Amino acid sequence: MTEKKTIVIGVTGGIAAYKVTDLVSRLKKRGFEVEVMMTEAAQELVAPLTFRVISGRPVRLDLFDESEGDPAEVEHIAIADRADLIVIVPATANIMAKAAAGIADDLVSTVILAADSPVLYFPAMNTRMWEHPATQNSVAVLRERGFKVVDPAEGRLACGTVGRGRLPDIETLEEKILAVMAESERERDYAGKTVLITAGPTEEPIDPVRCITNHSSGKMGCALAKAALRRGAEVHLVCGPIRVDPPAGVRVYPVRTALEMKAQTEALYDAADVTIMAAAVADYRVKDAAAQKIKKDGSTLTLELTPNPDILASLGERKHGVLVGFAAETERLAENARRKLEQKHVDMIVANDVSPASGVFGGDTNTVAIFRKNGATDCPKMTKEALADVILDEIKNLEETKE
Ligand code: PMT
Repeated sequence: MTEKKTIVIGVTGGIAAYKVTDLVSRLKKRGFEVEVMMTEAAQELVAPLTFRVISGRPVRLDLFDESEGDPAEVEHIAIADRADLIVIVPATANIMAKAAAGIADDLVSTVILAADSPVLYFPAMNTRMWEHPATQNSVAVLRERGFKVVDPAEGRLACGTVGRGRLPDIETLEEKILAVMAESERERDYAGKTVLITAGPTEEPIDPVRCITNHSSGKMGCALAKAALRRGAEVHLVCGPIRVDPPAGVRVYPVRTALEMKAQTEALYDAADVTIMAAAVADYRVKDAAAQKIKKDGSTLTLELTPNPDILASLGERKHGVLVGFAAETERLAENARRKLEQKHVDMIVANDVSPASGVFGGDTNTVAIFRKNGATDCPKMTKEALADVILDEIKNLEETKE
């Protein structure tokens, strides 16, 4: 049986607080665990006992109340940890201002600050308070940080004025909550998986101060790492000298040359469920790199290059899980991508046109076609961040059709 999801409802001091009783009851009927916490002002408007009876659980009121809960736990952290979603309803101007400023001076504001689950705000207040620049600023800050703030509805308010500030009807609240729950479940669809990603260029030394490299910045590989991490994966990122910061939370293995990248990637490959090779690996290295800086003497200099091993092809020979390669092409994109798909024994090739005019190397956007054994998908131009999610969706589809 799948574990019940927990929705923590933070009721703050708006007159619409009484409507939340109906919302709690509906969410319970849908099979969620619902845990209510209330601010002091909210307790003036609705008796905590009402929520206790409807939710079937103790109602949390005080940061320092030790009468409920496990004495071994720090209560506000335990509530934040239990929550799959936190809903602040009605959300006053005060609670949003505190959340935007990082103020934690009561139970509700402290749980918000301690949360790593999504937080959904349903503001409801007088129109002038809603339109006040201070409130609008709090809303903008919260949205910028990725929190969802649902605009209040228009209509007659409890204070007698007509305008924006009403709590939307309960059906709308329920619908929004269900949508966020579904979205956050999808976003954890890589939980329990280990994803190995390569990113950036390699550098092949010519002498101690010079090298052969390319224009890869590492943005594509890091976008993939970030998306996989957000979707719940354990992420191992093997990267050459990249020009962007790898996402926090990812295990980073810096390398320099193609041979180093091969050794590191092969060492991590067996434990990976999904491997995505976004690095632009140098196909050649200097055969005998000079031990000292090469002096110029006016004559031409010839470097002898020797081929680097193809890391992706060698993984393809002992393929397991899902193996994805890229194809960086300046001509005959589809033909070259299909050839790489076959020759390297991979499940998927993400093909991009890397002619200088495309701006793909080092840029923030990419236009790709994704080739699988059973077909291809053309993707429109999009940010590398958005593309990372499309690639992860394609991998999920592939895994599901394999099962
Ligand atoms: O880093 P960015 O600035 O964001 O740019 C992104 C990118 C253009 C580097 C990326 O989108 C991309 O195309 N990466 C693959 C580049 C490349 O090396 O393509 P390729 O067609 O030469 O190689 C095909 C595949 O084999 C690639 O998955 C590559 O990682 C792999 N390969 C190549 C050579 C080699 N010796 N070993 C390999 O494993």
